[in-house]
Amino acid sequence: MSGQAHSAAASRKPAYMNDAVRAVLEAPDPRIKAALARQAVADWSHGALGVDTQAPSNWPDRPARPDRPTLLAPRNMPTRKLGSEKGRASQIHALAHIELNAIDLACDMAGRFCDRGLDDSFYGDWLSIAADEARHFLMLEKRLNDMGFAYGDFPAHDGLWEAAYDTRHDLAARLAIVPMVLEARGLDVTPGMIKRFNKAGDTATVRILETIYEDEKSHVSAGVKWFHEVCSSEKIDPTHCFHNKLNDYFKGKLKPPFNEAARTAAGMPLAFYSDTTAR
Ligand SMILES: [Fe+2]
Ligand SMILES: [Fe+2]
Repeated sequence: MSGQAHSAAASRKPAYMNDAVRAVLEAPDPRIKAALARQAVADWSHGALGVDTQAPSNWPDRPARPDRPTLLAPRNMPTRKLGSEKGRASQIHALAHIELNAIDLACDMAGRFCDRGLDDSFYGDWLSIAADEARHFLMLEKRLNDMGFAYGDFPAHDGLWEAAYDTRHDLAARLAIVPMVLEARGLDVTPGMIKRFNKAGDTATVRILETIYEDEKSHVSAGVKWFHEVCSSEKIDPTHCFHNKLNDYFKGKLKPPFNEAARTAAGMPLAFYSDTTAR
């Protein structure tokens, strides 16, 4: 981002956390989006942002996106092989695209559900996650640049916002599907991806993936914690509720093998996912 764009992002000083995260969702430029997310968590941690607890009006259903990359339906996405530099860049591009979506997902979580009587630490957790996702995006984007590519050079998956849209009115479902299914799936597949990049001798990418892997455990953990809080405040059984939300909002089945060690470290009960593969 240019110095001018950085200072433009930093000079906007919303009074409310809600406006700060809305600005992230509405920013099409990925670097400005990332800078705004980092600014929001900095302002929050300095006590500069309040929370408007009114139901949000005209909340964006979808985040703004740049003109590039071209977005394709998942079935039209080209296959990626890590043998060549271009193949690895294409895989890193796919991960950067996931992280860009993750910035918006965390900001949407913080802004969309502000009328549900949640503790301030809920907003603090998701703002901090948004800042992590911004850092992940920027690390992957820099790696792409170092390899001679840029974000936007490859087509990207168009289905990533679907789960957010489907769960836009249901906080328990959002927590179940986004951090506890999609991000938990990241814990399952990242160690294998690290091995493949290691085999290709790409240690620079391996280091980035190792950082992301460690951070993502805390994102799943935040999802589990707030899912239990919501279930407890609504006096419903968490395991039963998780399975209901899977049935209602998740197409297909959870895919084993599961990374039980990482899931357990993130506080995810085995009963949530161990018997759902046969549904
Ligand atoms: Fe991430
Ligand atoms: Fe994450």
